[in-house]
Amino acid sequence: MSTSSNQKKLAGLKIGFFGKGGAGKSTAVVLMARALARAGYTVCIVDADSTNFGLHQALGMEQPPAPLLDHFGGMIFSGGRISCPVDDPTPIPGAEISLDSFPQEYYTQGENEVYLMSGGKLGAAGAGAGCDGPIAKIARDIHVSRQTSPVVTLVDFKAGFEDTARGVVTGLDLAIVIVDPTQASLALATNMQQMVENMHAGQLPATRHLESPDLVADANRLFQESSLSKVLFILNKITDEKTERFLRQRLSASNIQPIGVIHHDPGFTEAWLTGTTIDDSKTRSDVDLMLQQLEASVTDAESGQPVSNRDR
Ligand SMILES: Nc1ncnc2c1ncn2[C@@H]1O[C@H](COP(=O)(O)OP(=O)(O)O)[C@@H](O)[C@H]1O
Ligand SMILES: [Mg+2]
Repeated sequence: MSTSSNQKKLAGLKIGFFGKGGAGKSTAVVLMARALARAGYTVCIVDADSTNFGLHQALGMEQPPAPLLDHFGGMIFSGGRISCPVDDPTPIPGAEISLDSFPQEYYTQGENEVYLMSGGKLGAAGAGAGCDGPIAKIARDIHVSRQTSPVVTLVDFKAGFEDTARGVVTGLDLAIVIVDPTQASLALATNMQQMVENMHAGQLPATRHLESPDLVADANRLFQESSLSKVLFILNKITDEKTERFLRQRLSASNIQPIGVIHHDPGFTEAWLTGTTIDDSKTRSDVDLMLQQLEASVTDAESGQPVSNRDR
């Protein structure tokens, strides 16, 4: 258990997981959710990957929850209410939800205090509904709380830039990029770092395509008021020291120090293949250490205060 667990530094925070397809976002979300639960947090995972299947199985749940898209009124392409955040940045009303009163079909409880929600799957929307922007908007806006315990929300995104270009990072407190041993992951890592630096330096989103001044104001406000404090990095699928050294050297050239390493584990591959629960017994202590790094990273070194005071 984390030594700092009683301080609950991550309480109320929303953490998004990014990375190229197959880098290990969903695997890292499962491992981190369990580490958080061991440390005494209530964890709500939001599956925001419209193409992924099997997160509930990896978490040991029999059924996936009903799609949040249904709760919020369906996607605009099929006559529903939820629009794409690129065309329409307007926030979704009622996206601050409490587990105490939220309809139970929209979340599934796994082992310990780990809950799963799902934005929705594209296949279910039918031909022509080919944009999962509305799911990204739900992931951007949703905030989950609970009266009796502090909730940490982990959002499992589909990718990296596809989602960040839709402004989803504005709704997060922290972003984590999963870096597997590929050039594509290294490029994504440095680009994400740069994007967050630019955002903190005051760069505003692209708004030329927006017709009304109100929408432009909404888009700018989301960026200006974003609580995103930093982007962190985790190495995944590490097989040997040489690979790890190579990745660390390349990342340090961009001033990136990963908060931890998840080694290659054939058991994970098998779990995703067979649709069975991920066995994290080999990586548990590494992930607990990573959680401590994560907790340390949200404490401002000077004030000793958490970076975000939002306690949702
Ligand atoms: N640490 C690991 N060791 C071995 N295989 C892994 C590891 N992490 C991920 N994988 C494999 O890579 C595939 C993609 O992982 P996943 O977590 O689904 O990635 P993403 O969510 O980024 O698309 C999984 O099916 C699994 O087989
Ligand atoms: Mg995934």
